[in-house]
Amino acid sequence: MKAAFFRKHGGPEAMEYGDYKDPVAAPGQVLVDIHAASVNGADWKVRKGSYAPITDLPYIPGRDFSGVVSAVGEGVTDLKVGDEVFGVCDVGQEQAYAEKIAIKASIVAKKPAGLSHADAAALSLIGLTALVSVEDTLKLKRGETIFISGGAGGVASYAVQLAKHIGARVITSASKGNHDYVRSLGADEVVDYNAVDVAKAVSGCDAAFDTVGGNVTQQAFAVLKSGGRAAFISSGAKAPEPERKDVRSLRPQVGRTRSHLERIAALAVSGAVKPPEIKLFSLAQAAEAHRISEGRHFRGKLVFKVR
Ligand SMILES: NC(=O)c1ccc[n+]([C@@H]2O[C@H](COP(=O)([O-])OP(=O)(O)OC[C@H]3O[C@@H](n4cnc5c(N)ncnc54)[C@H](OP(=O)(O)O)[C@@H]3O)[C@@H](O)[C@H]2O)c1
Repeated sequence: MKAAFFRKHGGPEAMEYGDYKDPVAAPGQVLVDIHAASVNGADWKVRKGSYAPITDLPYIPGRDFSGVVSAVGEGVTDLKVGDEVFGVCDVGQEQAYAEKIAIKASIVAKKPAGLSHADAAALSLIGLTALVSVEDTLKLKRGETIFISGGAGGVASYAVQLAKHIGARVITSASKGNHDYVRSLGADEVVDYNAVDVAKAVSGCDAAFDTVGGNVTQQAFAVLKSGGRAAFISSGAKAPEPERKDVRSLRPQVGRTRSHLERIAALAVSGAVKPPEIKLFSLAQAAEAHRISEGRHFRGKLVFKVR
């Protein structure tokens, strides 16, 4: 099969496109012919070596995909050849920047017919992360106000729509050029983080969801009312320490479950959460896609059209 991979950690130019050994479905797995795979913030961090160094090289990154089952491993009874499926790779597996992937059947879900492969791939990891963060971890309720940092990004664009669907009021931060976009997702209030100090401009929130990290982390605590709670997905494996003591800091544990994927599918089919704006690439353009993702100022999702 063809795949995009790297042979050593490095810059975007480390991404290569070429031949790679075909995977095989082990017991409990399905083999999927990938039609689309998406780029996530984690992919370039993996390529750079920001996480644990990878020794099993060459390495195919990529955490989510959509495609068609082409073989089933022993013991798989709930999926069959020809089923359209989408999903998020198991923690520590990756390998979605490829024409084929072998993956545990229990963590993929059927793709709704009305959703394109590109949209399903784009929604998978961002949807899973937003659902676990906003619903399972922050337990956001109707009538509450949530601050979501970086509303134009992948996870945040899903979270803004999800929070509106729950019935919350949404305040988000974005650069000026993305204000119309985040308003189109449903944001009630948008703060230009380049023009104002978000920590001073926003206050009284019940919840905050930080998808940016770095110096934005303390911003998420600052906007909370006393007793508020904040969740962080870009500040390391542990919940960051707040500078104030009257708020809670939470680190969502983003596991892999079919039920979350089915919720993503249902929210997409009902129109409650629309797919983000998508820019398409071929796998051979992986280096360029990583350059844009690493720049961190695009909006929506970058998606590989594999077939
Ligand atoms: N399991 C997990 O824990 C998990 C899962 C998924 C993602 N993540 C992490 O979550 C983070 C977000 O991922 P993603 O793929 O959604 O990100 P992304 O799409 O790469 O985010 C890019 C967006 O960030 C915005 N941005 C950059 N700096 C900002 C700032 N100072 N204030 C406000 N917005 C800012 C940009 O908007 P503007 O152009 O408007 O500046 C841009 O639209 C990444 O660090 C990723 O590794 C963790």
